[in-house]
Amino acid sequence: MVGGGQQGAAGTAAAASGPAFHRFDPTLPPANTNGRLQLNWHAREAPIRITDDTVVSAWTFEGDIPGPIVHCRVGDTVEFTLTNDVDVPHSMDFHAAQIDPKQAFRSVGKGQSVTYTFKPRYAGAFMYHCGTAPVLMHIGSGMHGAIIVSPREGLAPAKEFVLVQSEFYLGEAANGVRPFDYNKMLSTVPEYVAFNGRPSQYVKEPIRVKVGDRVRFWVVDAGPTHPCHFHIVGEQFDTVYLGAPPATPLRGVQTFSVPAGGGMVFELLCDIPGEFPFVNHGFGHGQKGSIGILVVEQ
Ligand code: CU
Ligand code: CU
Repeated sequence: MVGGGQQGAAGTAAAASGPAFHRFDPTLPPANTNGRLQLNWHAREAPIRITDDTVVSAWTFEGDIPGPIVHCRVGDTVEFTLTNDVDVPHSMDFHAAQIDPKQAFRSVGKGQSVTYTFKPRYAGAFMYHCGTAPVLMHIGSGMHGAIIVSPREGLAPAKEFVLVQSEFYLGEAANGVRPFDYNKMLSTVPEYVAFNGRPSQYVKEPIRVKVGDRVRFWVVDAGPTHPCHFHIVGEQFDTVYLGAPPATPLRGVQTFSVPAGGGMVFELLCDIPGEFPFVNHGFGHGQKGSIGILVVEQ
């Protein structure tokens, strides 16, 4: 499943020794300002190192788990094209779109493309994912990510980060690479749970901000099955937006659960220096890697 024909012998050798680990940058990229976003993405397979000693054979959008972070504003025009580079059929379902799914979210075979256009109506943190059956297998093998839709009026200035929680269900390694295991996905007992595709990566390399910063986490739970009970040790959320920000703010929240297939916005004011773990407070899963550290520096 790894590589496909395009990588050949060199790709096989690379998979055996494995690709290097890289931290997934959680920084929210700026929204482009001209109101139009053109995305030309490819569905492809890639070996990805998710821990020092684990390489997985992923199904991806654009070669990583999660796929690229998309950022736009309410009412922008998103022109999306997916081209499938591999033998397994794939598709794209943007939760930020309101569109006929039979047409727009249809599966395409190798070498084929699907194109559609949408204008996000509501602000928020939205999931995207491959919707090809069985969806569990396609989301669970890495085909998911986040599209962040900012309100046109903007929000308070903040350091903004995106966290996509997902679960990993893995089989035994072949040539040093672990396949995804559909039966384990059905069992719903994950081996790892991660923010942005690598268990505990932000413990090793924390997210750093300064005293006085407002921090905004756009949290998407890609599942495929479990929620994320988002909490920051030693802090409280000044504001949690359940729906489209800036509407429906909740104040003074300790923990709130993001459902599988959902997204929410969490803000805190960093007025105390220190190292604050951000965790899935469902600790069976926090222990499996959905944990990181927010360092607040003087
Ligand atoms: Cu797919
Ligand atoms: Cu969905």
